[in-house]
Amino acid sequence: MSERRDDKAWLPWAIWLGGLMPAAMLALRGFTGDLGANPVAEALNACGELAIKVLLLCLACTPLRIVFGWTWQMRARKHLGLLAFTYASLHFGIYVGLDKVGALSSILADIVERPFIIVGLTAFLLLVPLAVTSTKSAIKKLGGKRWNRLHQLVYVVAVLAMVHFVMRAKKDTTEAYAHGAVLALLLGVRVVDRVRRRSRARTVTA
Ligand code: HEM
Repeated sequence: MSERRDDKAWLPWAIWLGGLMPAAMLALRGFTGDLGANPVAEALNACGELAIKVLLLCLACTPLRIVFGWTWQMRARKHLGLLAFTYASLHFGIYVGLDKVGALSSILADIVERPFIIVGLTAFLLLVPLAVTSTKSAIKKLGGKRWNRLHQLVYVVAVLAMVHFVMRAKKDTTEAYAHGAVLALLLGVRVVDRVRRRSRARTVTA
């Protein structure tokens, strides 16, 4: 029996409640002084890692449909994208507000010294138009085709975020490359699917 979309009306709630739990735990640990010797760096890194993990979950929705034919997770895609943006915003906010305390000169000096920051900043800036146009009214206004084209940017964001992660890793790059491998797999499934669909369409027209 095919699954109706409304069968999973609870899914967005589960994503937001479950997805914001790590942020709440971080805040609690921050207030109780349980974030270690460098609480700002701990919170900054935790939010960066959560942003990248949720972004990968968001990008996994379509490959899951392609490979297994599942559709229920498509309802989660938009919420996972917005949750990833929330964590990226927290990551950015902690860096600017707590780590650099809003000092532009210190941020600029840091960017020169650690170029991975500019890569992260580019990824974040590209995420903003995607978050802003995630509403139904924005889809209507832009039209499906233009909206889809704009939202292809999410792959650029994911690649930049991965580069940011790999460049930032000091000695042990295993975790960063493991995330990169997952992204490569997800992108690979989409590329193979696109090639297959194109060749099928060509056969039909022939
Ligand atoms: C989509 C956007 C972004 C994602 C997904 C992301 C992800 C990450 C990840 C996964 C880490 C490493 C965490 C770890 O090793 O445990 C990290 C570190 C870092 N990110 Fe980002 N980031 C993004 C945007 C930004 C932006 C906009 C900035 C600042 C302008 C930034 C500044 C930093 C800094 C300074 C660190 C290293 C902190 C340290 O060495 O202690 N990131 N980020």
